[in-house]
Amino acid sequence: MGCRDRKKGEAVAIQIRTKTHNPDVYCYELDLASLTSIKEFVDDFNNREPTLHVLINNAAYMGPQSTTMDGYERCFGVNYLGHFYLTYLLKDKLRRGAPSRVINLISDTYSKARLNFDDLPLTPYDIKQAYARSKLCMVMFTSELHRRLAGDIIHVYGVHPGWVCTDILRNWPGVAGNILRTVSRVLFKSPEDGSQTVLFCAVGEKMREMSGKVLENCNIFKVKNYAKDREQCERLWNLSLNLCGLESDIPADKRDPGEKGPPAAVQDVGPREAEPKKEK
Ligand SMILES: NC(=O)c1ccc[n+]([C@@H]2O[C@H](COP(=O)([O-])OP(=O)(O)OC[C@H]3O[C@@H](n4cnc5c(N)ncnc54)[C@H](OP(=O)(O)O)[C@@H]3O)[C@@H](O)[C@H]2O)c1
Repeated sequence: MGCRDRKKGEAVAIQIRTKTHNPDVYCYELDLASLTSIKEFVDDFNNREPTLHVLINNAAYMGPQSTTMDGYERCFGVNYLGHFYLTYLLKDKLRRGAPSRVINLISDTYSKARLNFDDLPLTPYDIKQAYARSKLCMVMFTSELHRRLAGDIIHVYGVHPGWVCTDILRNWPGVAGNILRTVSRVLFKSPEDGSQTVLFCAVGEKMREMSGKVLENCNIFKVKNYAKDREQCERLWNLSLNLCGLESDIPADKRDPGEKGPPAAVQDVGPREAEPKKEK
């Protein structure tokens, strides 16, 4: 487990060791709001572990405007870019562990987002929009990573866990935050129920066909076309490489031209007034 709060993570590791009688549960420091911390975590992991079979990209921030250590808008930086960088740096270990899996936590709120490549700080800032945008990026990342890693037998899944009563709303300020937290305690799923689709993707059998897809309740969750648009996903990939100071060595898989979406003459990604009509 990668945790930014070592004490908190270690306490959970002890609980898991006790419950499962598996002594090999370890917790290492990882702050997804810092590219340096991610690099240090991966260097440490790479020295200790020969392979990696399942990577679950779970962490998320939702709250008032803030930035990461590297100066990126915090939802974008933690929820998406940090996971992008982490996954990229771990790809060789995933290759060695193949068949292996990457699971990206997304949210159905992605469909409310617009991604303007020229406005990463997000002006004006809005909590819902910032969170939704980070999840749109995770949906796009899921498609793009699948295209780039499928040839290495690394399968990639997005998971929308449903609405789950966790601490995700802890930073939502004001009365609205109090109301949302109260409602979530009454109406939302338990964390145990919310984790089932993640577990399904981590250990389920015959999952190959589902790589590149998003799942909810252990079934395919249909994602809007614009969130899978090949040119836009590739653009986000290249931008992310740049923001992380990386050069790509994972070529895009060009074997599936049938998947190619409509040419993207737009500056941003997101819901449009109406989806373009298909030509007859
Ligand atoms: N709950 C829902 O209804 C819902 C719905 C759709 C999707 N999701 C997604 O499910 C995933 C899990 O969220 P959750 O509901 O369990 O929320 P949560 O209780 O707030 O858990 C989020 C976790 O992310 C960690 N985290 C935040 N910033 C971090 C950073 N900079 N570096 C490392 N770790 C960091 C937190 O660590 P600390 O414990 O140290 O704060 C916490 O353990 C998220 O990706 C979320 O977007 C949740």
